[in-house]
Amino acid sequence: MPQPPSKMRIAVLVSGGGTNLQAMIDKSAAGVLLADIAVVLSDRPDAYGLTRAGKAAIPAYCVDYKSMKAEGARIDAEGKFPVDLDELDRRQKILRNPDGAERRRRLAGLVHAEREMARIIDSYQVDYVCLAGFMRLVTPWFIGHYNTGGARRILNIHPALLPSFPGQHGYEDTFAYGCKWGGITVHFVDEGEDTGPIIAQAVYPILPDDDTDKVRARGLQLEYEVYSQVINWLSGGFVILDEFPDGRTRVSVTDPAYRETLKSWMHLVDPA
Ligand code: GRF
Repeated sequence: MPQPPSKMRIAVLVSGGGTNLQAMIDKSAAGVLLADIAVVLSDRPDAYGLTRAGKAAIPAYCVDYKSMKAEGARIDAEGKFPVDLDELDRRQKILRNPDGAERRRRLAGLVHAEREMARIIDSYQVDYVCLAGFMRLVTPWFIGHYNTGGARRILNIHPALLPSFPGQHGYEDTFAYGCKWGGITVHFVDEGEDTGPIIAQAVYPILPDDDTDKVRARGLQLEYEVYSQVINWLSGGFVILDEFPDGRTRVSVTDPAYRETLKSWMHLVDPA
């Protein structure tokens, strides 16, 4: 008898509350997320996302970046680091400290932690790695480990309408700038800071009596919808990525229901 196609498998990386993870868990339980959350990882032991995963019986791990940092630097100091950190430093675009030795220490710590993350993730054989409030830089080592054969396999959700307001404070920066519309972005991760190819974006109005909390609450409602939708599009083979010789990229979504989906996101935040 023919078997039904097996569902896509994802790893979700969190650092904190994990409400995006919870939205995925709920949608998965409701049968509207076309992927299994195979494993959840955090860079810190107190991330509530780990508890959420545990409650949903999803394997959950902490790779404690704090302790990995010192250990990575120690292994490098002993000359035993298994990755060429000089070459990595030439490729990386995020650590900007002019002190080369300090950059190398940071890289050693990050890569040491990433190797452990990858060891765990790979034992679950996932199709995509989804950053969902994962507040660590990812190095070219991690990106190269998952982006093989021309495919991109790491996703991120960013709380602003990229390329505006990259960095860790998307909602605060959008509101403080006086924007009248804010937005959220799901993108493939590349070696820059929130610069990877954009897959989906949605916008919400910022109203006269708003504050940062209201703006964040409105944006998060969109995050929950859009991230799951992107995973479903990937699962359905609806995400096409063109890469041009000059380095530009463009993602097209070929879902026949694309326009209806966009309209539904707009109704979700209708100011009326
Ligand atoms: C979200 O706003 C996400 O866009 C950003 O970090 C936040 C994580 O929230 N990268 P949560 O942990 O999913 O509640």
